[in-house]
Amino acid sequence: MSSENSGLQEEILKLKEKKRAIILSHNYQRDEVQDIADFVGDSLELSRTAATIKCEIIVFAGVNFMAESASILSPEKTVLLTELEACCPMADMIRVDSPRPVRKSFPGFDNPPQYIYPSEFTLRDIKAQNPGVPVVTYVNTTADVKAESYICCTSANVVKVIESLSAEKVICIPDKNLSMWAARNTKKQVIAWDGFCHVHERVTPDDVRKAREEHPKAVLLAHPECRIDVLEMADHVTSTSGMLRFASSSSEQEFIIGTEIGLLYRLRKENPEKIFYPLRKDMICPNMKKTTLRSILRALKENTYIIKVPEHIRIPAKKALDRMLSIQ
Ligand code: 13P
Ligand code: SF4
Repeated sequence: MSSENSGLQEEILKLKEKKRAIILSHNYQRDEVQDIADFVGDSLELSRTAATIKCEIIVFAGVNFMAESASILSPEKTVLLTELEACCPMADMIRVDSPRPVRKSFPGFDNPPQYIYPSEFTLRDIKAQNPGVPVVTYVNTTADVKAESYICCTSANVVKVIESLSAEKVICIPDKNLSMWAARNTKKQVIAWDGFCHVHERVTPDDVRKAREEHPKAVLLAHPECRIDVLEMADHVTSTSGMLRFASSSSEQEFIIGTEIGLLYRLRKENPEKIFYPLRKDMICPNMKKTTLRSILRALKENTYIIKVPEHIRIPAKKALDRMLSIQ
């Protein structure tokens, strides 16, 4: 580690203790940010931790919807997002009552078995057209979208969440790939939305073929935000922490990792005897990489950037998150 980083780490640790703060980091964060965090995890683990952890301040090294979820679940704590501009473009792809800019093509999505709402619709339109159908909302959404939903889900529990509902039909927003993958794994009818993650969407079946040719012995793990034709070629589809669990319990030695490359740091650290290859080297989420040690130090020094969800949104959004968190 550079001496600059170790100096910053020292300052952060001192200040963190003084202010009774806890640093939560997503698995995609920079290596040095993961190293300084009290807890590193996937979206489900981070939500569970934010809901239960004892502290005065949560410093969130992640993107804005994650800090919003922490504020929804723990309103008595100060929640700081380390970089104000750290957003998730997928979360901005669905709005409660104003349409987002229209997108006409759906690469890799030629044969959707269920109806996909085009982007000129709003969440309220979908609900009005499907009265009584519960809305299952990926946590990668804004707080007001969660507030309009029945239950939340993450990539780790989407199928479990859908299966927990008595309804035979569900609306699943906003990621078309996650929804398609869930539809493959449940008998229920899934009404999807056409959102996507630009980091995972860029992976094609050709990338999978190439990676398999280069590493014929490796097991291929893919995140459900990848295209469905990519998921069909994977050996195992799971969340980021699901990949960590799979890799450590597997007797295999080599793995191709189909998700944001930040996860490779933990995979390698926790499994030094195993080999990990990125499915594509450019699977980098620029928003996840905005946070640096300097941003964490600034957050602690200046109390920036406070994320506070207003009560009229927080209360219904919390209901949707709590319903998810009550599913084991
Ligand atoms: P998980 O870590 O929950 O699998 O989520 C991935 C992601 O893209 C979060 O933004
Ligand atoms: Fe959003 Fe994709 Fe980045 Fe996750 S990796 S924060 S889904 S853009």
